[in-house]
Amino acid sequence: MCGIVGYIGKQQAAPILLEGLTKLEYRGYDSAGIAVYHDGALEVAKAKGRLEVLSEKTDGGKKLVGTMGIGHTRWATHGEPSDVNSHPHLSMSGRFAVVHNGIIENYISLKKKLTDKGFEFISETDTEVIAHLFEYYYKGDIMDAMIKVINRVEGSYALGVLCSDYPDQFIAVRKASPMIVGLGEGENFIASDVTAILKYTRDIYYLEDNEIVVLKKDGVQIFNSDKEEIKKEKFTVDWDVSAAEKGGYEHFMMKEMEEQPKALRDTISPRIKDGKIVLDDISLTTEDIKNINKIHIVACGSAYHVGVVGKYVIEKMCRIPVEVQVASEFRYSDPIIKKNDLVIVISQSGETADTLAALKEAKNHGARILSIVNVVGSAIANASDDVIYTWAGPEIAVATTKAYSTQLAVIYLIATYMAEKLGMLTSGEYANLIAEIESLPDKVAKILEAKEDVQYLASKFYNCHSIFFIGRNLDYAVSMEGSLKLKEISYIHSEAYAAGELKHGTISLIEDGTLVVALATGQDLFDKTVSNIKEVKARGAVVMGVTTEAHSDMETVADYTVKIPTTNEMLLPSLTVVPLQLFGYYVASLKGCDIDKPRNLAKSVTVE
Ligand code: G6P
Repeated sequence: MCGIVGYIGKQQAAPILLEGLTKLEYRGYDSAGIAVYHDGALEVAKAKGRLEVLSEKTDGGKKLVGTMGIGHTRWATHGEPSDVNSHPHLSMSGRFAVVHNGIIENYISLKKKLTDKGFEFISETDTEVIAHLFEYYYKGDIMDAMIKVINRVEGSYALGVLCSDYPDQFIAVRKASPMIVGLGEGENFIASDVTAILKYTRDIYYLEDNEIVVLKKDGVQIFNSDKEEIKKEKFTVDWDVSAAEKGGYEHFMMKEMEEQPKALRDTISPRIKDGKIVLDDISLTTEDIKNINKIHIVACGSAYHVGVVGKYVIEKMCRIPVEVQVASEFRYSDPIIKKNDLVIVISQSGETADTLAALKEAKNHGARILSIVNVVGSAIANASDDVIYTWAGPEIAVATTKAYSTQLAVIYLIATYMAEKLGMLTSGEYANLIAEIESLPDKVAKILEAKEDVQYLASKFYNCHSIFFIGRNLDYAVSMEGSLKLKEISYIHSEAYAAGELKHGTISLIEDGTLVVALATGQDLFDKTVSNIKEVKARGAVVMGVTTEAHSDMETVADYTVKIPTTNEMLLPSLTVVPLQLFGYYVASLKGCDIDKPRNLAKSVTVE
C-alpha cells in the first residue's frame, strides 16, 4: 500500500507533492510526510493522521522551500502510525531521505548488521534500514549505492531517494511495487499511480523491476542494475484530470457509481463489432478454447466476488468446470493445475500482492494466464499471457463499484465469446446475449436514476446492528458483494448466505427486526428464495426483497421491494449489484462514516 510522489523542476516542490499525495491517499491514509532539498540539506515534515494534518503543519507546503522533493502517504505495516514511523526516513547523518512502498523482508537481519556497525534506529519501520544502507554503501556515487542497496534487500519496494550531495537530481527504483515516471516540460515526476501527476503531464514511463531512474529538471535517464542506460518507450495516458477529481460529488464512491454506465460502455462497445464479440486483446484461439480442461479464477475482495459470478456464468454457458478461489488461499494450496487449464486473474489495481503471487504460483505450475485488469501496465497485466483491460478509468474510493461492474462485463464477454466458439449458442441466442450485454449501461443508468428510493430504505435501516444478505446461485454471488459493500464502509456487521443454507445454523441469529436483504431475480429459483424469505419472516426478520420488474410476487412477501429491469438471467448481477452499492453508500452516509476512506482499509493491498 502507501503512495509515493516525487518532483524536480522549477516550481516549489512541497505544494506539488502534497497535491499529488491527495490523489494517492486511497493507498493509505494513516500518516504522511515530505522531504525537500534546500540549500545543501534535506528538510523533512511528517505528521500522523490524514494528509490535512501535514498540510496544515506546512501551510500547504509553503513552509518547505526547494524545487526537488519526495512525499509519502502511509498505510502502516511495520510500526504503528506515528510521526516518527512516517516516511520519509533519514539516514543517520541526514544525507539521504527515503520514501518506500512495499516490504523489506530481510530487514531484521539488515537492522542487526547496521546496528552492529553503529547505526542507530529511531523508528520501528523496515524502511529505515534502506536509509541507513544508503549511507553505509555510499562512497560518493549515488548510483553505486543504489545498486548495492537493491542487491542487498529482499522483498518489494518502490523507492524515492534524495541525497543532499545531489542538488539537481534524485533517484528512484521499483520492484514488485508500482511506480511510474512522469515526463513534464522542465520538470519530472515519480508516482505510485498516474493520478498523482495527471495535472502536469500524461507522458509517462512504466518501470520494470530494478530499473533505476535518475530524474533531473530537464531529463530522465533509466539504467539497469549494471549501470547501462536503457531506452524506454513513452506512454501517453488518455485519462483526463477530471477523472481523478470529485467533480462536485461529495464522495468519490458516488461519482464512481454514477460513472458505471459510461465505464460499462467503454468496456463493452469496443469489443462488439458487426454483431460479434471481438477480443483482439487475447491470443486464445478457438482450438485453445475447445481444449480448455478447467478454468481457475483467482482474485481478492470484490474481484473475487466477480469470480464467483464468473463460475456460475461460464459453467452454465460453456459447460467448462470453473473453480474460484481467493488468491491468498490459492497461492499456498499447491494448486492442481493440469495441461490445458486456464487461470483467469481478476484485479482492479493489477498490483494486489496475494493476487500477483497466486498468478506466479499458477505460472510455475505451467498455467496459461488471462487477466482482467484496470490499471494499464500494472504488475499483474505485465505478468499475464493475455490481458483484457476494463476501461473503468481511475477508481479512487476504497469500496470498488465501477471496477467491479466492468470486471463483470468482461466476464460476460469472455463467457459469451467462448460459448459461441464452443458451439453452445444458436445464432439467435448469441445475438440476443450481445444485445442484452449492450443494453446493460442504459439499464444501470435507469437504476441510478431511482437512487432516492434506495436512500429512503437506507434511512429506515441505518441503525441496524446486523444485516443478512441472502440469495441463490447468481443472487448469492451478488449477495457477497452487497454484504461487503455495506460492512466495509458502514461498519455494520453483515453476512452473505446462500439462501438455502441459512437454516443450517445462521438462522439462529435472526430475531425480531433483523434486516434480511433477499435477492431473488432469476425465474427458476424465485419460488425457492421466497420460501427462505418466509422462513426468516416467521422468525421476526424484516425483509427487503430485490427482484426484477418481471416478478410481482415479491411485494406480497417482502416488507420492502426494490425492482431492477429485466435482462438475460446470466447478466442480472450487473443490475442487482447497483441498488446494493447504493444501499451501502447511503447507510454509511447516514451514519456519518468516512465513505471514501473507511477505517483500517486501503484500496491497493500490496502486503500479504
Ligand atoms: C481491496 C479493495 C477491494 C478490492 C480488493 C482487490 O481490498 O478495497 O475493493 O476488491 O482489494 O483489489 P484488486 O485491485 O486486486 O482488484
